[in-house]
This record gives sequence, structure tokens and C-alpha cells, in this order.
Amino acid sequence: MVNLLRYIAQAGCILAICHQASAAPAPRRTVWETVTVTSCPGDVCATTAPCTTTEPEPTTTFVSTTSTSTSTATSSRYTAPPSGNPYRDRNFNTIHHIYNLTIFPNQVPIITFGASAVPDGLFADHASGRISPVGNFTDFEDSIEYFFALPPLPISNKNSAAFTRFEIAQFSSECPEVAASTVYLYASVVNETSPDNGKLVSILKQTGFWRFNERGEVINYDLALIEVDHFIEELTSTDYNDPAAQQELIHTTCNAQALRCHGKNAQYDSIEHCIEVLSAKPFGSYTDVWSDSVVCRSIHIVLTITRPDAHCPHVGPGGGMKCVDYDYKTRQFDDMHLWGRTDLFRCVA
Ligand SMILES: *[C@@H]1O[C@H](CO)[C@@H](O)[C@H](O)[C@H]1NC(C)=O
Ligand SMILES: *[C@@H]1O[C@H](CO)[C@@H](O)[C@H](O)[C@H]1NC(C)=O
Ligand SMILES: *[C@@H]1O[C@H](CO)[C@@H](O)[C@H](O)[C@H]1NC(C)=O
Repeated sequence: MVNLLRYIAQAGCILAICHQASAAPAPRRTVWETVTVTSCPGDVCATTAPCTTTEPEPTTTFVSTTSTSTSTATSSRYTAPPSGNPYRDRNFNTIHHIYNLTIFPNQVPIITFGASAVPDGLFADHASGRISPVGNFTDFEDSIEYFFALPPLPISNKNSAAFTRFEIAQFSSECPEVAASTVYLYASVVNETSPDNGKLVSILKQTGFWRFNERGEVINYDLALIEVDHFIEELTSTDYNDPAAQQELIHTTCNAQALRCHGKNAQYDSIEHCIEVLSAKPFGSYTDVWSDSVVCRSIHIVLTITRPDAHCPHVGPGGGMKCVDYDYKTRQFDDMHLWGRTDLFRCVA
């Protein structure tokens, strides 16, 4: 709880940049989890400069153009969809808004406050879908956490990288209910005191289909993250084939679960017990996160910040129905089980 409160304080500080320059400088260092980090990436709390966020005027260009800005956190350049087709524009705007909330620090309030920080109109109450290779999600909270709590925070990786810009590279919506998109998420260094600030670290590609309800909210999605193992490797500058890196991930995950999964959410007797259990499991790979592996637990541990009761079991020895081995065909093709039908992403004339 103490850590969560500290985290909230930190998140509040990050947010303060874009509302009001924070009056008093925040504590310079704070303990978050087991690592010591500066309380605000890029010393944003120390600055008294006014908010520099400048959203470009919407243009009518469809594909977002390459950003010329190298500054971080505010460097996204967005463009509006073409006018003329109301449902296409509506669907594009919903998708655009969703990805905008994965851009640092826009996701911070959602990590901190959960569902209540998600604007209305993006996801329907019973939104459900699949994001390969992470898993399937069967309600609003589940869905929004996997969209917004998983994008990297600068404090969570040694490159201090976060998504600072996205581009909807491909988009099509032939009917009001369905759209398809390919989106590039650009991860760059967010550290104003670093000479690398703003430098591109890697790009993640997400592609797939969306279904909307009559209000234009996403009700279902079937998305894939492409070559996510290479993205993670570049994001973290870590070779996860290296046994030392694997051990480190086990230790980080076990330390984090000890901090967040206690009382009725406790999964292991001790950190040592966790290390012992996880060391005996397959390490797994970031292309196969949906498995009884260390990698799966290292992803789900992130979400225990937001809802420990829901996510601690995923990190436990049994995997809580998420970090378990399902067979490939069930994971990828069991649309009937997930949605009760197989034709959700087709436009019917
Ligand atoms: C992106 O999100 C930020 C923070 O919520 C918001 O200020 C900005 O207007 C959004 N931009 C677009 C184009 O939606
Ligand atoms: C930011 O960059 C500076 C200079 O390279 C470095 O000393 C500092 O540790 C970095 N901060 C974080 C949080 O990585
Ligand atoms: C989620 O996926 C797993 C593995 O494919 C499956 O067993 C489970 O039934 C799915 N849940 C739903 C609601 O489809």
C-alpha cells in the first residue's frame, strides 16, 4: 500500500506537467518496488516551465505523417481521418483515442486509478477480445488493463523508454460495425537529462480487427502484436536467452509479487519459494506469453499494481487461468468460446 501511494504520488507528479507546472519540487528519489528510481523521469517535477504540450491542428491528411519533433512525451503528431464517411471517421477516432492513451504519460492515470480513468465511449462494458500473444480478455476492466497498463513506463526499463508517438499506418472500415488497423507504436527515451532523450529505441506493430457497438464503442477486438520478442529485446536492451537475464527476471517478478500479492492475494510462502517455483518453470518467450512460463508471469505482474486481487493469481504457481498452457488451436481459433460466434469481424451487407 505504501508503495502504491508512492506510486500515485509519482504518477500525479508526472501528470502535473501537462496540467500545471508543479509548484513544489517533489522528493527527488523514491523507492518504487525494489528498485530506486528518480521520482519523475526526466526531472519533470523540478521544472517550473509551463506545459509545452501542443497538439497540432487537425489536418485532413489520413495517414499520420512522420513526426519532426524529437522531444518526448509530447511529440506525437496526430492527424484526423478524412471526412465524408461518418462511421469510418467515428471508428477511426475511437481507435485513435485508444492508442493515444497508450502514449506516455497518458496511460498513467489508468494504471493508477484503473477503470474510472478511462474516458467514456472507448470500450463497451462487456468488451472482450484476444491480443496475441498475450491472451484473451472477457470484460471491460480486463480489456482496458491490457491496453493501457502494459505500455512501458520509463521507470520500468533501463533505457527509460516509453511510447511517445503512434501512427495508424493502415485503416479500413467498410461498415459501421467493423474496422481493421495496423498501428506503429514508437518507443523513445523519456529522460530530459539524458543526451539520448527522444531517441527512438524500438517500434511495436499491432494489427487486427475491431468491432463496434451502435454507440461506436469497441465491443470486440482480435489483435496481434508482431514479433513482440524483438521489440522487448530492443526496448530493454536485454537478451532473454541469457540465463543471467532470465534469473534477473525471475527475481524481479518474485520481489514484485511479494510487495503486491499478500494477505488473501498471497501466492507463495516467500520470495525464495517463488524463485524456486519459477526457476523450475519454462522461461518461455515473448512470442508465447500465453503459457505456463516465467515470461507470462512477468507480464501479468505489471497489472497487479492496478488490481492485485484479479491479477495476483496469474503470477502464482498455478497461473490463475492466464499463465497456463492452452493448446495452440484453442488459443487462436476458439472464437465460439470467446465470443459465441465466428463471424464478428465481417461486414454483412
Ligand atoms: C491525446 O491524449 C492527451 C492526454 O489525454 C490529450 O490531451 C490529447 O488531446 C489527445 N490527443 C488526441 C488527438 O486525442
Ligand atoms: C537519465 O539520464 C541521466 C544522464 O544519462 C542518468 O544519469 C539518469 O540515471 C537517467 N535517469 C533514469 C531514470 O534513467
Ligand atoms: C480464453 O482462452 C483460453 C485458452 O484458449 C480458453 O480456454 C478460455 O475458455 C478462453 N476464455 C474465453 C471466455 O473464451
